[in-house]
Amino acid sequence: MINVFTDRHGLPAVSIKNDLAAALISLQGGHVMEYVPHGEEPILWMSSQSYFEQGKPIRGGIPICWPWFGAHPDNPDMPAHGFARLCLWSVAGGKELEDGSSEVLLRLDKCEVPEKFPAMAFALQLRVTVGRQLSVALEIANTSGMTFYFSGALHTYFNISDIANISVEGLDGSRYVSALEPEGVQQGAITFSREFDRVYLGTDATCYIVDTGFKRKIKIAKKGSLSTVVWNPWIEKSQRMPDFGDEEYHRMVCIETANAKEDQRHILPGESHILETIISKESL
Ligand code: BG6
Repeated sequence: MINVFTDRHGLPAVSIKNDLAAALISLQGGHVMEYVPHGEEPILWMSSQSYFEQGKPIRGGIPICWPWFGAHPDNPDMPAHGFARLCLWSVAGGKELEDGSSEVLLRLDKCEVPEKFPAMAFALQLRVTVGRQLSVALEIANTSGMTFYFSGALHTYFNISDIANISVEGLDGSRYVSALEPEGVQQGAITFSREFDRVYLGTDATCYIVDTGFKRKIKIAKKGSLSTVVWNPWIEKSQRMPDFGDEEYHRMVCIETANAKEDQRHILPGESHILETIISKESL
């Protein structure tokens, strides 16, 4: 069942419930906030300190970073991670699929605060499919007469038993860049013991979060992406973020299906690009 309603924060939202899973999407940011396959721990993490206000990004779930990832390339006054996560999206459709999944389509073709942002003619469509797996596909169409350039990410926050209990597989041998350390090449699986913020480049690999506490693996496959961001803020950065609890870094890790750094893309007039993440749970 797909239901459009006003949530307890007064924001428009879509709830999805079927025999396989439940999910919740906020139209603030076109933001998938919850995905819970039946009988499972939630797959996505949400901060207890998040803002839920029109025009502010939500801390947790799957923020859509677009049309730039991180700081704006030229203008430091622009908000981090672009404007798509700040805007109010609309519902463009919804249907039940034969395999028992449900599909919701959202759209964004203008921002509620356009005067703050450079003129760009675009149409974004988000196709969210909720079932045994969660698929989130962002289709970016260039409706202008000029080629445009963008970066972005499906900035997914995963719910984990504890950062000490997990490793991330799939990026062995991938080159990374980071603001925290020199460029390098990943050796083996990733484990965490300090602030971690890397963009892995030239990779279309499926990643796995191996969580010995929850006795599960989360599989993260992707399309239209050759960069993967891995982030955990650790102690001091958690304390600096007003919408993030001081100890919450224990329970989350971000694995982001991205078009970041040298994986910036361009789209010719009338053409489009699809960035997609496909998330599922496996037993350990
Ligand atoms: C990650 C970046 O993708 O997003 C981090 O790599 C950043 O550097 C994090 O801190 C959160 O960004 P924001 O704008 O949501 O606080």
